[in-house]
Amino acid sequence: MEQKKIPFWEDSYKNDNISAFGINPNPEVEQFIDLFNKSGRVLEVGCGEAKNIFYLMENGFKNVSAFDLSENAINKVHKIAEKRNIQINAFVQDLCTFEWKYNYDLIISFGTLHFVDREEWHKFINDAKEHTKIGGIHVIQIFTDKVEASDDIKDFAVGLAKEGELLELYEDWEIINHKEFVFEDEHPNAPKHFHATNKIVARKR
Ligand SMILES: C[S@@+](CC[C@H](N)C(=O)[O-])C[C@H]1O[C@@H](n2cnc3c(N)ncnc32)[C@H](O)[C@@H]1O
Repeated sequence: MEQKKIPFWEDSYKNDNISAFGINPNPEVEQFIDLFNKSGRVLEVGCGEAKNIFYLMENGFKNVSAFDLSENAINKVHKIAEKRNIQINAFVQDLCTFEWKYNYDLIISFGTLHFVDREEWHKFINDAKEHTKIGGIHVIQIFTDKVEASDDIKDFAVGLAKEGELLELYEDWEIINHKEFVFEDEHPNAPKHFHATNKIVARKR
């Protein structure tokens, strides 16, 4: 019987001494924080170790929640929160079956959507757009197929986007920032490799 493949980040999520993707927030979260509604409702999708949510909470955001498919990730998030004496709403959830109960002011997702099929992440973005308040913001990063999926993710990256595909999904929103580029990446226990990425910061009109 073939063994189920496990993505590299699970080992880091189980280890309190290393961080899979660093402890600092993603640059767009830092750069655009002044545009986000501090008293608004925030959701991070595929949060990993929830570095963005911790950063927002440290900066006065209170109504925040985050989810990830990985139980190891969410356990680690709860441990970090306990250590810092922070109450955090983080839960295990597959983005493909997320049930939308609220409308949000800010939705964040970095490096996650390409791990589900294209129809699934398109549906997720369309539902997320619908469940965002007017003036609300999305900060989304997805990998594209401009560069072949590297060995560390090739078994999981089933939904790599086409260049510009993310931007097209937001054609009816105000584009605050959009970037497409290739970068060199490195994680614990993996050789250096390249990813092609598209990033967007967009506001609902
Ligand atoms: C490359 S990591 C990025 C983590 C975090 N966003 C960051 O930037 O540090 C991708 C994350 O997506 C999560 N993920 C993958 N498929 C998912 C799904 N269907 N629903 C929710 N999370 C998922 C993984 O468990 C993993 O934590």
